[in-house]
Amino acid sequence: MTVAPSRASSSEGSDAAGAAPAPAPAAYDRADWSSAFRNVGVELSAVPLSAARGTIPSELSGTLYRNGPGRLERGGHWVHHPFDGDAMITALRFEAGALQLSNRFVRTEGWLAEEAAGKVLFRGVFGTQKPGGPIANAFDLRLKNIANTQVVRLGDQLLALWEASSPHALDPDTLETRGITLLDGVLKPDEAFSAHPRLDPGHHGEPRLVTFGVKAGPTSTVRLMEFATSGDQAGQLLADDSYSFKGFAFLHDFAITPNWAVFLQNAVAFNPLGFVLGQKGAAQCLSSKPGQQGQFWLVPRASGAFAGQKPRLIKAPEGFVFHHLNAFEDASGDLVVDSIFYADFPSIGPDVDFRTIDFDSLPEGQLKRCRIDLKTASVSLELLEPRCCEFAMVNPAQQGLAARYGWMAVAERELGNDPLQAIEKVDLLSGERQVWSASPRGFVNEPVMVPYPQASGAAGPAATGTAAAGQPEDRGWVLVLVWNGARCASDLVILDAATMAEQAVVELPLAIPYGLHGTWSPA
Ligand code: CO
Repeated sequence: MTVAPSRASSSEGSDAAGAAPAPAPAAYDRADWSSAFRNVGVELSAVPLSAARGTIPSELSGTLYRNGPGRLERGGHWVHHPFDGDAMITALRFEAGALQLSNRFVRTEGWLAEEAAGKVLFRGVFGTQKPGGPIANAFDLRLKNIANTQVVRLGDQLLALWEASSPHALDPDTLETRGITLLDGVLKPDEAFSAHPRLDPGHHGEPRLVTFGVKAGPTSTVRLMEFATSGDQAGQLLADDSYSFKGFAFLHDFAITPNWAVFLQNAVAFNPLGFVLGQKGAAQCLSSKPGQQGQFWLVPRASGAFAGQKPRLIKAPEGFVFHHLNAFEDASGDLVVDSIFYADFPSIGPDVDFRTIDFDSLPEGQLKRCRIDLKTASVSLELLEPRCCEFAMVNPAQQGLAARYGWMAVAERELGNDPLQAIEKVDLLSGERQVWSASPRGFVNEPVMVPYPQASGAAGPAATGTAAAGQPEDRGWVLVLVWNGARCASDLVILDAATMAEQAVVELPLAIPYGLHGTWSPA
C-alpha cells in the first residue's frame, strides 16, 4: 500500500525559478486504475472496523454517506459508462473513535427487475444499451431511475438522488430502501429532482436544503425549492418557485448565496435522434455549440433581497461546467462563482470502451473564478488552478459565503488530464496549495470536508477564514474513499483538513467502484 503521505510543500506549483512546470509523464498503472471497475458482491451491516494506520479521531461523530455505481456488468454485458451503474450506498458511522461500515444497493424498480431476470433490461442515459443492437433499443425511451448520484439526509430519511427523476427514500440506519418518495406531495410522479442540493448554513435563520428540478426542452423550466432541515419542521417545503428560460437546459449542479441561486447554462445542443433510434444514450445526444457562449441564470432566492424580481441572464465565459465549488456576494456587490471548467463537453462516444479511455484525448477540469458585475452584467474570468481537478467543496459553514479554503480531488501531475489521485487544499486568498497524494497505486473519490464539531447553537455563517464559533475555517477533517490498486479494494483515508496530514487509513472489506457524491451527516 503506497498511500503514505507525500505531502507537497506549501505553495507547490509556484516554481521558485518562475518557469512554468513542464508536463511530467503520467505515473500510474492503467491496470490499477481500471481494476476499480467491478461489481460490488456483498452487502455488509454495521461491520466494526479499525484503522490499519493512525487513529480515528474520537471527535468525529456522525455518518459519511457515499453514493455511486455498484453494479457495472450483468450477464457479461457491461455498462457503456460507469455513470449508468446501479446505486450502491456506503455508510461509514463514526462514534467516539469507533467506526462501522454498512453498504446496500438501492432497490430501484430497474435493479429489482434486472436482479430477477438476471440480465440487462433497460438502456442507460450515458449510452448503455440492452443486448441486441439498435433494433432491440430503438423507441425504448423509458428512463431507468438508478438513484446513483448523491445521498443526503432530509428529516428522518436518507434520499438517494438521480437528477432525471424522483428521489428514493432509505432508512438512514439500515440503508433499506423504503421506495420512491414524492416528499409529502411536493413532487409530481417522475418529476426531475436535482442530485445537487446545497445546504444553506443559515443565511436566513435556520439551515435549509436548497435544490431544484429541471424540465428541459426548447423552453426549459427550473423549479427552485427550499426545505427546512432542522427540528420538527425538517423536510417541510419553505419556498417553491418556477422559472422558464429559452433553450435546452443541461443543469447538473448550481450554487447558492444568501440572495441568489446561480445556474450556469452551458452552450449545448440536444439532438435526440440517436437516442430514439437506439444508437446512443440520451446524454450522448448532447453536443457543445462551438463558438457559442453559455449563460448564467441568476434566480433570486425567496428570502433574499431580490425576492420577487425576475431572474437575471448574463453571458458566461466559454467552456463546459458540471460542478461548482461555491459562490458568494462580495462587499462591492459582485457575485463570485468558482466552478470547474472543461474546454468542451467530455463524452464517451458510442464505439469506445470506457475502461480503455485515452485521458489525453479528453479535456481536463480546471478551477476558475467568474466575477459577475451585476451593475454592468459583465463577467471576468480568472484561472485559480491549472491542475486537473473535480469534486470540490468548501467548509459547509461557508456555503454561499466568501470561503478561504477549498478541498478537491486532483491529478498527480500538475498539468494534463489524468485520473484523480490526490487531494488538494487550496487557499483561495493566497493561492497557497497543499496536496496529499495516493499515487502511484491509489485513486481518489470526492473529498468530504467535515468541520470540527462545535457547541450546539453556535452554527451559522462567519467571516472569511473562520467558520462558525470563531474556529479556523480549516479546522476539521477531509474524508476520502481511495481505490487501492495494490489491494484491489477501497480504503477510507482521514486527513487533517488544515495540514493535509494523514490521520488514519482504514482498509475496508469492500471493493467500491469510483463513486459520485456523498455527504456528512452529524450525529
Ligand atoms: Co455531480
